[in-house]
Amino acid sequence: MNITLDGPGGSGKSTIAKLVAKKMGISYLDTGAMYRAMGYYALSKGIAVDDEKAVLEMIKNVEMKLWQENGVQQVSVNGINVTPYIREHEISMAASTISKIPAVRIKLVELQRKIASDCDCIMDGRDCGSFVLPQADYKFYLTASSDVRAQRRQKELVEKGQILDFETIKADIEARDKQDMTREFAPLVIPEGATVIDTSDMTIDQVCSVVMNAVCR
Ligand code: DC
Repeated sequence: MNITLDGPGGSGKSTIAKLVAKKMGISYLDTGAMYRAMGYYALSKGIAVDDEKAVLEMIKNVEMKLWQENGVQQVSVNGINVTPYIREHEISMAASTISKIPAVRIKLVELQRKIASDCDCIMDGRDCGSFVLPQADYKFYLTASSDVRAQRRQKELVEKGQILDFETIKADIEARDKQDMTREFAPLVIPEGATVIDTSDMTIDQVCSVVMNAVCR
């Protein structure tokens, strides 16, 4: 069984995907972590994430691996576990920018489809129901107002010791939405047949129940 959960940053996708996976005893795949790992790796090598030529050269020699440790997804690039570094605020935009490059997407989508074909899983991202797994058994699209999403992101960053002002976070979220929604190749859209859930005024448990009720009917 494959379930997809798409939506903009801060809509609650990853939290819900992890919870539903745990309740159902299936795997979860956070595809955003893969684009984050690519963005982080490029920056760590001094490669500009919008330099398509240099990124194309880089990805020829990139091997990405994903696995779970105590139920938490880990990602490595060329043998180095980059998981601790990919949630930094500046990596969000780097991931969004590098994800515009079709060759990057093709490489990562291949890995995502392979994982989905090997196990029952819930996959969260931007194009999972529209491009990666258009034939998924269940598709959801989570959204929320940019104010609510910025509040959630700010809380997450504070928990990691990063203090940023609300307006900066909100502006970055909106800029990333625009970039993710308007890119040419596999943009963020509501996938055909997806159930749309506005999580702005919902608790995590409420969103989880909507998904579980639809899947376990
Ligand atoms: O979900 P996230 O915030 O970790 O994603 C980071 C960026 O990665 C997002 O702004 C765009 C890109 N991304 C993508 O293009 N396609 C996906 N399936 C997941 C993420």
